Amino acid sequence: MISEFKHPDLQVCVLAAGRGKRMQSNKPKVLHKVLGRAMIDYVLHTVESLRPGGIAVVTGHASEMVQAHVGQPQNLEWVIQDKQLGTGHAVKQCEQVISDARDVLIVCGDTPLLQSETLAELVAEHRKRDAIVTVLTAEVDDPSGYGRIMRDSNGRVTEIVEEKDASDAQCLTREVSSGIYCVRHDVLFDLLHKLGNRNAQGEYYLPDIVPLALNDGQSVETVRMVDASEMVGVNNREQLSLVEDMMQANIIHDWQRRGVTIEKPETVRIEATVNIGLDTIIQAGCYLIGSTRIGDECKVGPYAVLVDAWLDDRVEVFAFSHIKDANVAMDAKIGPFARLRPGAQLDEEVQVGNFVEIKNSVVGRGSKVNHLSYIGDTEMGADCNIGAGTITCNYDGANKHKTIIGERVFIGSDTKLIAPVEVGSDATVGAGSIITKKVESGGLTLSERADQRHMPSWQRPRKKKH
Ligand code: UD1
Ligand code: CA
Repeated sequence: MISEFKHPDLQVCVLAAGRGKRMQSNKPKVLHKVLGRAMIDYVLHTVESLRPGGIAVVTGHASEMVQAHVGQPQNLEWVIQDKQLGTGHAVKQCEQVISDARDVLIVCGDTPLLQSETLAELVAEHRKRDAIVTVLTAEVDDPSGYGRIMRDSNGRVTEIVEEKDASDAQCLTREVSSGIYCVRHDVLFDLLHKLGNRNAQGEYYLPDIVPLALNDGQSVETVRMVDASEMVGVNNREQLSLVEDMMQANIIHDWQRRGVTIEKPETVRIEATVNIGLDTIIQAGCYLIGSTRIGDECKVGPYAVLVDAWLDDRVEVFAFSHIKDANVAMDAKIGPFARLRPGAQLDEEVQVGNFVEIKNSVVGRGSKVNHLSYIGDTEMGADCNIGAGTITCNYDGANKHKTIIGERVFIGSDTKLIAPVEVGSDATVGAGSIITKKVESGGLTLSERADQRHMPSWQRPRKKKH
């Protein structure tokens, strides 16, 4: 598999200098995200798994943004293309940084579905056939936007014609260029120096190295992709969502194969970085984002949003709950309509019910906060029962204060705990209390209540009947 790949005599060139005019965006195209990850990240990950001798990335438009995003991996060289004069011109800028390689593999930064196995196959075929230039092609139903592969009567490739330069007859060709090439290093830059820009876009086209090589009597080969969907390039936002849907379908099939039930899969979003355990059920409309981890035999949804959330085994998250940057231990039940915010840590068998918000708090094993409460900056022990409408008043406008609750505490409904405050174990707090001082362990604590009066002669106003 991937770990077996090793290509020390291969240099990779990634083209990522284009502005991506068709994206209509302020940020460079390759930084647009597909399922939460920038396109360039996928492409770099794919080429890195070939373990090549080095990787040159050509940037130009907003190059500082791309570099800041990627950082500085060890075997990566940045190459700046000041003016975006075409894909051939972009590769030419790498002449100084690419040395000492048998072949150069050229890929585009806007094809996030590309798999390393496909690239390895291209390199292997290129070497087996001892070719000078090998083009990765694909047969597609809708070739629009791609360069068309032209062949002579013997089926040999003759040239690649960009759509904007193609005649109506050429446009009908359904074999297209993926934009990915493997080229012998010792001829690549000679060919690039010969490129002209007399075409519809006035650009130096990389595909023109094909007729140039043939003119020099050098062998040009093509390798047809098995799965054409891998090469879909993102040039506009429509293709961005198309690629995202395709990647999402792959991820979902993968989890299904690994023992996860996904209901209404077309409504679910699961990012590539998420992990899900065996026999877990993901219901309709769920969003599983970022570093979210879900254990075995959990049930999530419908319409739950989990962002960087960690759920242990057998956790149930009911409809419309939102969990971000929070930990939930085994057998806990959350929601419906619950919100766990950053730093919420729920121990085993905790129950958090509807319209409850928990932030930066530990809730001890088996404790229940079932209705309409806010728990913030709190440490709560095991087996507590927090009544409906309980609020930890943790914020004085400038500072956050802590509430400490012991074990087996019972807080009556509509209690306000004015932090900093402490409630001892086994305490019971009467409903409607406003707690400002330490509550001693055991017994009943309640704040003064107004007297209850009865007015027997009082009459409720009545609506006049017409
Ligand atoms: C390109 C190919 C086309 C192929 C298609 C596959 C050319 C002329 N056309 O078309 O044959 O079928 O990809 O997806 O090569 N870039 C630079 N510098 C530039 C221009 C582009 O770095 O001056 C980069 C872009 O950022 C992009 C890649 O090269 O990542 C491809 O450019 P793009 O404009 O997307 O080319 P396509 O029209 O898709
Ligand atoms: Ca493209």
